[in-house]
Amino acid sequence: MSSILFVKANNRPVEYAVSVKLYEAFLENYKEAHPDDDIVELDLYQEHLPYLDTNLISGAFKLGRGMGLTAEEKLITDIATRFIDQFLAADKIIIGFPLWNLTVPAVLHTYLDYLNRAGTTFKYTPQGAVGLVLGKKVALLNARGGNYSEGDAAASEMAVNLVVKNLNLFGITDITKIIAEGHGKSPDQRERIIGDAIQLAAQTAKVF
Ligand SMILES: Cc1cc2nc3c(=O)[nH]c(=O)nc-3n(C[C@H](O)[C@H](O)[C@H](O)COP(=O)(O)O)c2cc1C
Repeated sequence: MSSILFVKANNRPVEYAVSVKLYEAFLENYKEAHPDDDIVELDLYQEHLPYLDTNLISGAFKLGRGMGLTAEEKLITDIATRFIDQFLAADKIIIGFPLWNLTVPAVLHTYLDYLNRAGTTFKYTPQGAVGLVLGKKVALLNARGGNYSEGDAAASEMAVNLVVKNLNLFGITDITKIIAEGHGKSPDQRERIIGDAIQLAAQTAKVF
């Protein structure tokens, strides 16, 4: 039996949100194919996550050195630690998120801020940062209206790239990407692009 964490970073209704369609298709098919697995769903918009701030930065720093934390530092650091522990407890992680304004929704950015904990998810060495989270498998389910796979536009894509680079920092390299893209730019191709991506999400979930 494996432990699976499904992270959802979009609170738009599934009728309108393509990344939520991918998330639901993956979840449904994963459950069907892996009935004995332990599945946890984390809906980031339900969590009311405080932003990374001075208290979390100093709290995490002090925690790593065994120093005492102020009440404010402890409050936000404990919240972040709870999400880190949940992430570390999972064997496989699925993250569903849209590209909005070239990047991820703020809740997902904040979640990644929490997971960035020196000494826990990565460590600093004279050779640079080294990841400490080994052996995990991740699937990213993303939707973006424009095309960002090639050419100049690729450098403007800061959603999938942001998540992948953070996971790489933690040492996670087994990353499957399912991306519905270009459906906003090509209305005549919209149904096909979305349908293909949903089908791919469903097929991947069965063998993930
Ligand atoms: C607030 C907002 C910002 C968006 N920004 C971009 C953008 O920067 N580039 C782009 O190609 N599409 C953009 N889009 C289109 C989305 O990428 C597209 O609708 C995609 O399907 C989003 O995922 P969702 O359907 O799961 O919400 C934006 C859409 C919204 C609602």
